[in-house]
Amino acid sequence: MFGRDFSGAETSEVGVPQSLVAKRRAALDTASTFSGMAFPERRTALLVLAGLVRSECDVSTLHEAYQDLADAKVIPLLAALRHHCPSTFRHCVRTMKFVMIIVRRLGISRQEHASICVGALLHDIGKLSLPIDLLRLSRELKPAEVEKIRQHSEAGYESICDKRVFGWNAVLDIVRHHHERLDGSGYPLGLAANQISLRTRCVSVGDVFGALTEHRPYRAALSAEKAFGILSDLVAAGKLDGGVVSALGAGLGLAAGPS
Ligand SMILES: [Fe+2]
Repeated sequence: MFGRDFSGAETSEVGVPQSLVAKRRAALDTASTFSGMAFPERRTALLVLAGLVRSECDVSTLHEAYQDLADAKVIPLLAALRHHCPSTFRHCVRTMKFVMIIVRRLGISRQEHASICVGALLHDIGKLSLPIDLLRLSRELKPAEVEKIRQHSEAGYESICDKRVFGWNAVLDIVRHHHERLDGSGYPLGLAANQISLRTRCVSVGDVFGALTEHRPYRAALSAEKAFGILSDLVAAGKLDGGVVSALGAGLGLAAGPS
């Protein structure tokens, strides 16, 4: 469908198409190929494309990320997640948007953007394996329930680890390790510090910020300012990467303050 050469597209001075018009045109071109898809998958693919258009990713990343999702045949998985738990699907798309804000400000090479984008979109795909009643619980979770939910990162990894797509190891890294924390307190492996890649740290921060600013059955959505204060506390506690959190703050016009 799309290669990695967009020489015919509108370009900026650095050779990368940037404008919203170009992104909308790219998304429309991509959507024109959806006619053979079943409705739930077509609708899901359109929602993913809409999220990519509204994100800070450039048009090349939009093309490459969608192509990787299609080549890996994971649109049906995202459609199934959207059917199983719509709020988790929306969270994945929102997380991707925050992550794109971060990666553009951290100087991560553009070649990595598509893999990180796909990793963010798929980071909670393992929740497809969890009972919906567990995902919707509005009370404090019991230890056994926490343990069950913690299985989603490994389950997500196992559900997509057989794909053979360029850059997929980066996607797998993100899906498996997005709940690892720099002080070793995370899961599933208890990785620490430099054992956690920068790309995964970016998704961890986007994930936490996205979760805090979304309504949950057990609490209302927090304001962006309040959520950013909590991120800053997690940096001070040695759990999240301060540079990554600062990049998000810069992109959203937020500064650290009391949470
Ligand atoms: Fe997760």
